[in-house]
Amino acid sequence: MIGRPLIRLDSVTSTQDVAFRLADLGAPEGTTVLARHQTGGRGRAGRSWETVPGDALLFSLVLRPSRTGDRLTPLSILVADGVANALVSLYDLSPSIKWPNDVLLGGRKVSGVLIQVRGGVAVVGVGINLIAGRESLPEGATSIRTENSSDPDPDVLLQEALSRIGRRYHSLLDDDIARDIVGLNERLWLRGQVVSVQVADRMVNGIIHGVRADGALLLDTQDGARAIVSGELTRGPRSTLP
Ligand code: BTN
Repeated sequence: MIGRPLIRLDSVTSTQDVAFRLADLGAPEGTTVLARHQTGGRGRAGRSWETVPGDALLFSLVLRPSRTGDRLTPLSILVADGVANALVSLYDLSPSIKWPNDVLLGGRKVSGVLIQVRGGVAVVGVGINLIAGRESLPEGATSIRTENSSDPDPDVLLQEALSRIGRRYHSLLDDDIARDIVGLNERLWLRGQVVSVQVADRMVNGIIHGVRADGALLLDTQDGARAIVSGELTRGPRSTLP
């Protein structure tokens, strides 16, 4: 069951490390590692994820999916969608989802998702900014307290997020994500607007059409429709790398 067992720790290098170690020792699917602080928190593309102790919800979930490779690609945006829907249902907020894996409030990042796969194990890491003020967050980030002016209960948010993530994960395994994809496209950041996507060392400019069921971002470009499987999205158009 997703979220069980739940292991609560104070300070770790990264909940991803602990989750992989537990998986190597045979931890079952659903095992969740929650920490108050990380000394080496990781983000996508080799970036770090740093938070003040207690200011963020930091957890990693061990999965042992029956499908791997490209068929798992949509999982990161589905996880972001699960987090976004938890914020809607608990706090009546209006998050948007930034392809491929961020949740934004008022255009600022409140949550990020990192999925790492080794062998048959996928570890889903989620960070959600709970109470940090903007001054202690990276530029362009925000927290639930800042946007909602009240303090979220971390345990309630964890359970709500895990339940929504678990539902989407099982739908993905059952090839039944059409409804989730429609829902997340309704919340997709910059949908219908001009964006730039850095794909390796090239910039691709176009208008976001939506996210496809395989997780690819669909862009209408000057050269026609293009499906992008991985890249970094910013407002566009841009002609040079940031
Ligand atoms: C990103 O936005 O680039 C992804 C950030 C993911 C951060 C979470 S916090 C819990 C888990 N442990 C980590 O080291 N990273 C993820």
